Amino acid sequence: MVGFNLADDAGVYKIRDDLALVQTVDFFPPVVDDPYDFGAIAAANALSDIYAMGGKPLSALNIVGYPPQSLSLSVLDEILRGGADKASEADVVIIGGHTIKTKEPIYGMAVTGTIHPDKIVTNATAKVGDSLVLTKPLGIGIITTAIKKEQVEEKWVAEAVKIMTFLNKSASEAMLSVGINACTDITGYGLLGHLRELVQASKVGAKIFLSKVPVIDFVWELAKRKIVPGGTLANLKFIEQKVDWEGEIKKEAKLILSDAQTSGGLLISVPKEKEKKLLDRLISKGVPNPVVIGEIIEDRRCRIQVKN
Ligand code: CO
Ligand code: CO
Ligand code: CO
Repeated sequence: MVGFNLADDAGVYKIRDDLALVQTVDFFPPVVDDPYDFGAIAAANALSDIYAMGGKPLSALNIVGYPPQSLSLSVLDEILRGGADKASEADVVIIGGHTIKTKEPIYGMAVTGTIHPDKIVTNATAKVGDSLVLTKPLGIGIITTAIKKEQVEEKWVAEAVKIMTFLNKSASEAMLSVGINACTDITGYGLLGHLRELVQASKVGAKIFLSKVPVIDFVWELAKRKIVPGGTLANLKFIEQKVDWEGEIKKEAKLILSDAQTSGGLLISVPKEKEKKLLDRLISKGVPNPVVIGEIIEDRRCRIQVKN
């Protein structure tokens, strides 16, 4: 039902009229120093694509690459423990996995979930007039790059870990209970990259209000100092000409809007009249700071406007 051609978050395969499988896979090298946190982040990130589709994850397979010569196996134990704890928080059972030797550690999961075929939340059904709600602040890619360069205080590392390990489960349950038009999660292509996929699939345009976009505090400072991952620079290069920048938008703002996220939030396209209900439901489900950052507009060229 949903495959490669649609650039959506996960694949969907129909089994019966009332049952479909949702499947996704994600893995990467460490984004933080603490192995337990890395495991939890990788698991939360892998599960996120199922939540973005409105699915319920059931089981997962661990995907592991490890250098046994250079790292003690106790580090691997910690990575797997972080992943297992996060999976159990999500009521997901890890039923197997596979490990190979690699030069640097790699961890992630292939996740399987279920969904009713009529209730798939794709990114192709956003409607003109919808409000765009974002459930996590931006800046994770920039912070994790600063961690690698030892340019960031412990307090900001903890903040980034808290954001990345926060499951998109409650946000997904909130949107399903309210009824929304479209959703995607914000990961490697950044806010603008994933929004671009959504507007193209839905054949609409979007308007984003920069002043409303939530950003982790310290990230503005890091972006000014050009501490930015390569992926974020590549994202901006790809998206820059597809965006109408209205007024004077600073380079650091463009970088933040393009920042490659790991385990970022959900971007939800909700009918304007349900906006308040969605925000209330997100907050009551424990999502710390959901924000309306813009709206869907009519535009056959599928462009994105960014205003201050
Ligand atoms: Co996704
Ligand atoms: Co993914
Ligand atoms: Co095997």
